Amino acid sequence: MNELVSKASVHAFYADAIPRGRNTAENLQATTSERFNTLLESIGDGTPTTALDLGYGTGTYTIALARAGFRVVAVDQIPTDVLLRRTDGAGEWARRIDPRECLAENFAIDEDFGVIVAKDVLHYLARRDVESLLTSAVTHARGANYHYLEVFTGITRRSVDGRLLRIEGEADYSPGSFRHIVEQIYDGWDLTLLWSEHAEQDSRTGRNCFEATTATVIAANNRAA
Ligand SMILES: C[S@@+](CC[C@H](N)C(=O)[O-])C[C@H]1O[C@@H](n2cnc3c(N)ncnc32)[C@H](O)[C@@H]1O
Repeated sequence: MNELVSKASVHAFYADAIPRGRNTAENLQATTSERFNTLLESIGDGTPTTALDLGYGTGTYTIALARAGFRVVAVDQIPTDVLLRRTDGAGEWARRIDPRECLAENFAIDEDFGVIVAKDVLHYLARRDVESLLTSAVTHARGANYHYLEVFTGITRRSVDGRLLRIEGEADYSPGSFRHIVEQIYDGWDLTLLWSEHAEQDSRTGRNCFEATTATVIAANNRAA
């Protein structure tokens, strides 16, 4: 039987680790992925220059988008002052960032974002919230929109003493159930789904505390008007 970890404690963990600049087992300080960089470089004129970064963390993807010319709505459950401090006085691009302290599941996607990024966050949400967020993003897409998602599926978490853990209310997708829902929601889009194995070690024990199959979704709206 898995031991349940509260959602509140997960939120508190990030609210502590991110302002302190702690580089945790999941590498919160990592740079943007090569796949994302390639996607960003490929985006052309038909894409609205508005972006949404769900669960922005230290703001790495938000900053890359703003530097590339996008006005970015950056949503995370942590207070916005951390990102505001990081970008304070950084120049013209920093003024394009609009940070919001909000749960991703409570954020209403009601505009045509040219790019949506959700990296390493959607697995924390309930399935119905993941599916309604992505569905409303697709419903509001009018241009040559791109969605870049990295989502953990088939997760195994362990405590320091090896007990299996589960986070309250998390989506708990298997690779198959996630593939199914993504193919349904992005019907008619150009869809690239890539899979990789992911593991994180507990620095105290050297043993894996988190194992998952990462689904990277790159979806392009080719139904643009
Ligand atoms: C693993 S970090 C990923 C950060 C960033 N996307 C990246 O890849 O560099 C997860 C982030 O999601 C945020 N988060 C977790 N659950 C959330 C929720 N329900 N709504 C909004 N943000 C959430 C955390 O505060 C944290 O900043």
